[in-house]
Amino acid sequence: MSKEGQIYRISGPVVTAKGMSAAMYDVVRVGHEGLMGEVIELHGDQAVIQVYEDTSGIRPGEPVLNTGETLSVALGPGLLTQIYDGIQRPLQTLEEQMGFFITRGVDADAFDMEKIWTFEPVVAVGDAVEGGQVIGHVQETETIVHKIMMPPGTSGTLKSIESGDFNVTQTIATLEDGTEVQMLQKWPVRSPRPYKTKYAPDTPLVTGMRILDFLFPLAKGGAAGIPGPFGSGKTVTQQSLAKYSDAQIVVYIGCGERGNEMTEVLDEFPHLIDPNTGKPLMNRTVMIANTSNMPVAAREASVYTGITIAEYFRDMGYDVALMADSTSRWAEAMREISSRLEEMPGEEGYPAYLSSRIAEFYERAGRVNTLSGEDGSVTAIGAVSPPGGDISEPVSQGTLRIVKVFWGLDAGLARQRHFPAINWLTSYSLYPPSLDQWYRDNINQDFPEIRTAISGLLQIEAELQEIVQLVGSDALPTDQQLTLEVARMIREYFLQQNGFDPVDAYCDINLQYKMAKAVLSFQDAAKTAMASGAALNDVVNVPARSALLRGRFEQGYADRIDGMVKAMVAEIEATLEEN
Ligand SMILES: Nc1ncnc2c1ncn2[C@@H]1O[C@H](COP(=O)(O)OP(=O)(O)O)[C@@H](O)[C@H]1O
Ligand SMILES: [Mg+2]
Repeated sequence: MSKEGQIYRISGPVVTAKGMSAAMYDVVRVGHEGLMGEVIELHGDQAVIQVYEDTSGIRPGEPVLNTGETLSVALGPGLLTQIYDGIQRPLQTLEEQMGFFITRGVDADAFDMEKIWTFEPVVAVGDAVEGGQVIGHVQETETIVHKIMMPPGTSGTLKSIESGDFNVTQTIATLEDGTEVQMLQKWPVRSPRPYKTKYAPDTPLVTGMRILDFLFPLAKGGAAGIPGPFGSGKTVTQQSLAKYSDAQIVVYIGCGERGNEMTEVLDEFPHLIDPNTGKPLMNRTVMIANTSNMPVAAREASVYTGITIAEYFRDMGYDVALMADSTSRWAEAMREISSRLEEMPGEEGYPAYLSSRIAEFYERAGRVNTLSGEDGSVTAIGAVSPPGGDISEPVSQGTLRIVKVFWGLDAGLARQRHFPAINWLTSYSLYPPSLDQWYRDNINQDFPEIRTAISGLLQIEAELQEIVQLVGSDALPTDQQLTLEVARMIREYFLQQNGFDPVDAYCDINLQYKMAKAVLSFQDAAKTAMASGAALNDVVNVPARSALLRGRFEQGYADRIDGMVKAMVAEIEATLEEN
């Protein structure tokens, strides 16, 4: 059989070709326009292809050409600041060339292949080099050094390597055996990139969001799911993580829920400022965008494209945060392709392999020792949009089975404008046991105990609320009324954090600890004063407490909070003397 066959059948994004020799996952060009597709099933002489571009108007009999390649991404300097579609076509470049609607079958380099970069070697002639080893540096953006690595699988002794100005396809080094090394590499998106060892999750990804860092922490290299109904804050949360989490590189995969949502993200993201450097966030970001006018199969490819790029930066020794918003759109793409393939549908029409695909994706997260001997990580954070917010559906369930952190967004909290609308009673993290040593060593010895105290109070509040619903809070004994006040303080002062507040949107973890302690100091002082006869109302309303609560919206709070807590405690003690 030859490399070229003919279209036999077309069903939406799924095309069957006959008379073509093919292997699974070969990339093919379909029809006269050469639409890009990938072989996903083989039956005798028929190859079933998912096509990454709109197939309307193509006809049986048109040619199908097998490129013999697998779906790969181009890797090298020039990746950062790019916005790609699911198959790594650069949207900004294409938009300049042809406007918002991309012509079908168009090929475009993933980044500028002619651009000149200044390459600085970190190894010398005569050195033995191995696959994955860093051999030199390029200052890719103002803030990020792109480390040039030997392609995995190639090794030898360096015959030549020079510093100087090169584009990504020019040879920067040669090996004794004649192998030429360029900055540009390709990697098949469906294969995880290799590393030396995977670490246990013992370091948190610090996000600056109190409810996340304090109550439901995520480890570097871990995986988290954010399920939530429409409008509950999935996108805002993901963007806060992109801005503030202590990852050096961000890969953002957007599959918009609303037609214009992706356009909003594409408009906004390039203007976001990295709070750590004051430079554009895009300097350390690669975006993959599936706007709603793009075909479903490209959505399926986008998560693989995204995680492969994330692994590549991990291999340089960076901590990478990967956001996928929303993975439900990816699952729906799988469902559509599966139904076109006439596969036996599983639950709610999703294919039976839905959970294993979800698992494979999240399993590519991890904190590793790279082939070059550095530590890097990919942390994966996936939003899920269950219809009606009901997480018993297959995509939420498939996600929850694999991720160790569940940040459950709650429509009720969003309606009350309690943001982030993360439900503290249903959310969980399985990481604290492996992260607690880090908190003890880096923040404070008693950090885990303070966390337990705070979450314990929230639990008690939930139980007391049931009684309050029946009899009203006045019927409770005063110590329980105080507990409710303290829990309210936790919710309104500690858990609530407006993602758009110029100061409070990001909270340093040391300050988080102080704020949690401030709540407990209030509780202690109030308890003592009330035991000697102070009234709850007087204790709650001391002016220094209001100042403490308000202070978090002001610059320099971290320096003032200790003094403010002292003042509050003093005023609470003084309420007794007034009586
Ligand atoms: N952390 C937050 N701080 C302030 N406002 C928020 C926050 N999270 C969500 N919101 C509000 O809720 C709206 C919807 O959030 P969004 O992230 O777009 O929801 P989703 O992606 O779940 O549909 C936002 O436009 C914003 O007004
Ligand atoms: Mg959204």
